[in-house]
Amino acid sequence: MRIGDLECEIPVIQGGMGVGVSLSGLAGAVTAAGGVGIISTAQIGYRDPDYRKNPTACNLAAIGEEIKKARQIAPTGVIGVNIMVVTKDYERYVKAAVEAGADLIISGAGLPMELPGLTQGSSCKLVPIVSSARALKVILRYWQGHYNRKPDAVVVEGPMAGGHLGFSMEELERFIPEIYDQCIQEIIALASKQEIPVIVAGGVYTGEDLDHYLAMGAAGVQVATRFVTTEECDAHPNYKKAYLDACKEDIVIVKSPVGMPGRAIRNAFLDRVGSGERVVSTCKGCITTCNPATTPYCITDALISAVEGRCDEGLLFCGSNAYRATKIERVADIMEEFRR
Ligand SMILES: Cc1cc2nc3c(=O)[nH]c(=O)nc-3n(C[C@H](O)[C@H](O)[C@H](O)COP(=O)(O)O)c2cc1C
Repeated sequence: MRIGDLECEIPVIQGGMGVGVSLSGLAGAVTAAGGVGIISTAQIGYRDPDYRKNPTACNLAAIGEEIKKARQIAPTGVIGVNIMVVTKDYERYVKAAVEAGADLIISGAGLPMELPGLTQGSSCKLVPIVSSARALKVILRYWQGHYNRKPDAVVVEGPMAGGHLGFSMEELERFIPEIYDQCIQEIIALASKQEIPVIVAGGVYTGEDLDHYLAMGAAGVQVATRFVTTEECDAHPNYKKAYLDACKEDIVIVKSPVGMPGRAIRNAFLDRVGSGERVVSTCKGCITTCNPATTPYCITDALISAVEGRCDEGLLFCGSNAYRATKIERVADIMEEFRR
């Protein structure tokens, strides 16, 4: 797979997973195995002793540290970051990632309209995440008009994905994979006119899934959920166990404080929130679209609790395939299944 002048052996990008689920451990392992490892910058500095006092400073410092550690694991190969557009101080995160030498930035949860301006003069590749051809058209027009450039690749994220989803509740019910394939086809047709590689995300679990999208004209796939149940994933073992224990019925759509639907494993925490309890602590002002006065819970605290293994107090984001994991795997073994 090629993205600009970047090349990797296996056409798999590991999807960025916040908070703390994809850091240097997972990203480094995926890159070392021939794919593209992605570090999520969402509250990336949460383990810093000063995090509660100054989250942004800790997050910005951790971007460089995690990229450096990932490069120690995978001295050659492509390492990128995922930065959500709704991150407060988004610009500073982008600049920190460029300074730290990220090979590419993948950016969704909003349209990354100003990304080219923030990375001007660097060779960092820019990869927006979209869920519709309409969103891609808006980005293409704006980037062309304002920056005279196009995305180096585009990730199309479908309704089977994990974390926040770029769909309404109604669309999530309607878009079964067969129907969403038509949207993917439309996006591939649009992108291919400008020779932009398309990476398909959401529900990709096996090599056969990869073949399906390659046959449709995609350049590769982005895979997240499958990598959670690996030795190298940066989450606490309890987080991985929650995936192993989950059955299909446990995987639910939740309304996230960020203002978008999300997919997660039903647990004691979601039951408390569902019964109307408000679980809010001091506001860290991390997400531009969250309103601390009305939010049912602090998403940052809920995601930190989960990744640290206090799963009953936390939000366990997952993709629709999370129930399929039956054992902890090694990243290299998974990647071999995707070698073509
Ligand atoms: C635990 C978890 C956390 C995620 N966090 C983020 C995130 O912080 N930013 C983002 O853009 N996508 C996030 N995603 C989405 C993934 O990057 C990926 O595109 C998607 O989950 C792919 O579908 P799959 O999980 O079925 O493979 C997350 C997914 C999971 C499972």
